[in-house]
Amino acid sequence: MLIGKKTHQLINEQIGHEFFAMSSYYAIAAYFDSEGLKIFADYYYKQADEEKVHGQKMIKFLSDAGADVKIPAIPAPKAVYSTGVEAAQAALTHEEKVTELICNIVDAARGEKDKISEQFMQWFVAEQLEEVSSANDVLALLKKAGPGKEFMVQQFLKHD
Ligand SMILES: [Fe+2]
Ligand SMILES: [Fe+2]
Repeated sequence: MLIGKKTHQLINEQIGHEFFAMSSYYAIAAYFDSEGLKIFADYYYKQADEEKVHGQKMIKFLSDAGADVKIPAIPAPKAVYSTGVEAAQAALTHEEKVTELICNIVDAARGEKDKISEQFMQWFVAEQLEEVSSANDVLALLKKAGPGKEFMVQQFLKHD
């Protein structure tokens, strides 16, 4: 195995967090879809797909490094939302949490002098800046719009 023991364990756990983020985004997308807010829904469907890719990258990395892949149990995501702001806030809170977890993996890799994992995780560090920033933007947009104006502001959603 090319990577540190603790780092290996944290990356396995992180695969679960990425897949939990995926299903959380699907739940949020479904909420917007059910409200007829298709542009918001598409935005979150796309976020969900990205989280799947994040989990896949980690699976491939562990496999390449000769480390066992142990995907943990994934909890059910929150299924019911009552406002767009609530859903967008949940997305931001989760991205902030994931950022902390990603940084913890970098710390563990440094602690174990595991340069391979440290280098691998840098992509995720940069990605988290983008994800937190865009989650913030969506929340700010919905808050500024106010209740009942979600439909009007959808067109201002930035797609990357
Ligand atoms: Fe992610
Ligand atoms: Fe994310």
